[in-house]
Amino acid sequence: MSKMAIQVQLAFEERFGSAPEHVIRAPGRVNLIGEHTDYSGGFVLPVALEHAVWIALRPRPDQRVVLHSLDFAETAELDLSEPQKQEKGWQEYLKGITKVLQEAGWKLTGWEGVMMGDIPQGAGLSSSAALEMACLRAFAEVSGKSWQPKIAAKMAQQAETEWVGISCGIMDQLISACGVAGHALFIDCRNLEMKPVKLPEGIRIMILDTMTRRGLVDSLYNERHSQCLQAAEILGKSILREVSLTELQAQSSKLSPLLYRRAGHVISENQRVKHAVGAMRSNDLKLLGQLMQQSHASLRDNFEVSNLALNTIVECALSAPGCLGARMTGAGFGGCAVAIVKTELEMKFHNSVKDCYRKKSSLNPKIISCNPANGVTRLAPLA
Ligand code: GLA
Repeated sequence: MSKMAIQVQLAFEERFGSAPEHVIRAPGRVNLIGEHTDYSGGFVLPVALEHAVWIALRPRPDQRVVLHSLDFAETAELDLSEPQKQEKGWQEYLKGITKVLQEAGWKLTGWEGVMMGDIPQGAGLSSSAALEMACLRAFAEVSGKSWQPKIAAKMAQQAETEWVGISCGIMDQLISACGVAGHALFIDCRNLEMKPVKLPEGIRIMILDTMTRRGLVDSLYNERHSQCLQAAEILGKSILREVSLTELQAQSSKLSPLLYRRAGHVISENQRVKHAVGAMRSNDLKLLGQLMQQSHASLRDNFEVSNLALNTIVECALSAPGCLGARMTGAGFGGCAVAIVKTELEMKFHNSVKDCYRKKSSLNPKIISCNPANGVTRLAPLA
């Protein structure tokens, strides 16, 4: 059992006086390729992380949910029999999940718990999807509902869209729910078909946190989403997944230069994901790296969701020992890049990126080496 799983149980015992009945772990994610494609019904290739949100909990005999967050040093208290008020903060994810489950006809039981996590927040590693999935699993356990990961992921996405107000795609919730250890998950976001793709031997996935976070990410994200919908509509389709590159080029005069670039990113990124899956399966690490670089260039120039810090850290990564490919990851506008690196050169890569990025930006990056982990799990509590 991980250190975090033990810590969260001890914290529960200290707060509530006895051992918890359930311990839930919901992971964050890093996306290898397929960025800003999910809400257009496209392809993505994320990996679930060992970094996660943990909740230790037990049911309550009443209709209250009491969840103490050790990271925020705050306690959320909800009465399930009353409508929730919309506010700001981490509690909104819990409230959103509650509302969606009630609307779906779940008869919810109250519970009390302690939560902690080690996913860097606001860094593009899906700390909020992990929080949503952990709360959803907690409700499923205490309310005696069987766990259906895909349905749960859709409900969490609905909570984020309807309650939190971000028109996100399904990638983050789905990989947090369905991740497979040692594998990336090739997801078709149109029909939610998923295929695990084994991580090739001899490489490490490295997350490079620029330590920059940008405000207004939500509104910029929603703006990109609506630009994709607009482009699809002008081209006579409901989502960009339905448009081929040839169709886009043939009808380019119908789109403004901006919408043409946005659509061009999504459509070409979908092709890159398919090629990346082929490259992973055939161990063509050079091709995988090149595709990641093309993805970064397209996100920077066509989709315009990168920033100076992300471009700088990607450049540093590409010139570091052992690097096969690097790109920004997640929604963008700051946060993290992802790189694939030859395992035996991991330490050299790490030191080189640190030095390079520090010199160029005066910021101290955080570099995380990761192992693809499983999706949401219920752990047996300590005896
Ligand atoms: C955020 C969203 C995802 C996805 C990525 C960009 O993480 O939650 O649905 O759109 O951005 O690929």
